Formats: sequence, C-alpha cells, structure tokens
Amino acid sequence: MASRHIFVCTNGRASGKPACGPRGGDAVVAAVQHELLARGAIEVLVTTCGCLGPCFDGPNAVVYPDGVWYGALAPSDAAALADHLIDGRLLAAKVSQRPGASADVTPDTTGEPADDALNAAHGSRTGNDGQS
Ligand code: FES
Repeated sequence: MASRHIFVCTNGRASGKPACGPRGGDAVVAAVQHELLARGAIEVLVTTCGCLGPCFDGPNAVVYPDGVWYGALAPSDAAALADHLIDGRLLAAKVSQRPGASADVTPDTTGEPADDALNAAHGSRTGNDGQS
C-alpha cells in the first residue's frame, strides 16, 4: 500500500480561469515521476487529476493522507515534492492553505486509515469548491 499519494492538477481546459496543465502541471507530474523513479520510490504514487478548485494559485497539487495542498508548483520542485512523499518533509514555500484545511498540518504517522486523516484535515468536505 502506498504511504503517500500526490494528485497534480493537469486540467488543460481554461474556463475563465487559468488551467494548471499548460501552466506547468503536466511538467510537474513528469518531473516528480522522474525523481521518484530515480530514487526507486515505489511506495508512493503520483496521479494526474482534473481541476482542484484554486486555479489562480496553480499549478496545484494535494498530498494525501496528509491533506497538504501545494500551489505555484514548478518542475524544479520535484525533488522537494519527492522528499514530502517519501519522508514527510513539507515544501513549506509552496504550501497553500485551503478553506477548511488545518493551519497545523503534520504528516500522519499514526497508521490511521487515510479516510480518518482526511477527515481530520478537512472535516467532511467533499467535492470541488471552485470548478466551473
Ligand atoms: S485548473 Fe488546476 S486547480 Fe483548477
């Protein structure tokens, strides 16, 4: 089972707001995958996803089960994002506080199921708060 999972917005369709994919999201995914492969980090996952909501802050990503959001990502952040995925060290300069997110986000080391960690970080919020 993967310990951490990053979802990187690669939405390619701007709908009145900028789209993360062409702004660098696609390149971030490739760079993080390359970094993880180079480190042999098979216990973590990278997945592309559609719009996460805060488009103007993009390219955006979120790491679970930690519930940590990142904004303004660039391919040059790949090594630091890999550090987060593997060791839990946050890329503090790119952490984005999202509505409903705890200001005191720490990696889950309790071994609790991801659903519990997500609920603790975001309450029971579901869905997309900004997609049009
Ligand atoms: S397009 Fe990436 S968050 Fe909306």
